[in-house]
Amino acid sequence: MLMNVTFRQLRVFEAVARHLSYTQAAHELHLSQPAVSMQIRQLEENVGLPLFEQIGKKIYLTEAGHEMFRYSRSIAEQLEEAEEVIQQLKGVHRGHLDIAVASTANYFATRLLAAFARRYPGTTFSLDVTNRASLLRQLEENARDLVIMGKPPGDMPLVAESFMDNPLVVVAPPDHPLTREPNIPFERLARETFVVREAGSGTFIAMERFFEEHGIRLATGMELTSNEAIKQAVEAGLGLGIVSIHTLELELEAGRLAVLDVEHFPILRHWYVVHREGKRLSPVAQTFREFVLGEAAGFVSAGALGSG
Ligand code: PGA
Repeated sequence: MLMNVTFRQLRVFEAVARHLSYTQAAHELHLSQPAVSMQIRQLEENVGLPLFEQIGKKIYLTEAGHEMFRYSRSIAEQLEEAEEVIQQLKGVHRGHLDIAVASTANYFATRLLAAFARRYPGTTFSLDVTNRASLLRQLEENARDLVIMGKPPGDMPLVAESFMDNPLVVVAPPDHPLTREPNIPFERLARETFVVREAGSGTFIAMERFFEEHGIRLATGMELTSNEAIKQAVEAGLGLGIVSIHTLELELEAGRLAVLDVEHFPILRHWYVVHREGKRLSPVAQTFREFVLGEAAGFVSAGALGSG
């Protein structure tokens, strides 16, 4: 019965028929010669006719063998074509990437996406920019392909891989008296008022923990929900701010804000690319994950960190 023919039998047959040699076919397919003979025997049983005949030391295709050779070639070609189509579907060329990033990560995330889009044209993106608390909710709901955030909590089943430093620094308006002081003692910050990010932000949590660890009460004047708002408020003289160096590229370049030289600073955080444990990443998400882990630091240090 031809219905019982396997692709493996056809593949072995095609090689033997092409070489007219069991030995050469075995060599090409990295099989032993008995394994090749067995596949051919089984195929002949399924077909119900001999496919080769041996005359002296040489083998020849029988009439049935010639017919099977023709079909096995066209089946192999069809399979190769199917393989190509499937690879394209699996590939990143037509993929859609759905990611969410911490507000602070947005300062480099768009640059990363642009570089990724140049390398894999045809990829489309959705990017949600939001704070830590909202990212944790999205992870809980498995709502995105990937999330880029500060250190995720230990009590959720996540895969989190760190790819870059995220130093948090103290910023002041350029005319603030502390901008002229080197090695400002940490306790000196107790006399300053801070404008801070919202309680659900990673930046605020890191800052609060840091002050606690060093035994100083953080005096907060104003709570703002974006890094841009913090920078504006600091510029306007509403207090000092603590933000990631990644947010400061333009302000430092333009001299609109200054980084203070405070003892124990910067607060060292890291960026992580994160997804739920056990999640099946789409090919484009998998490719983006590798891209971030391998190359993100390179893109960013050329920009945001270069001016620090
Ligand atoms: P945030 O996250 O934008 O919510 O502050 C950044 C971080 O976790 O460091």
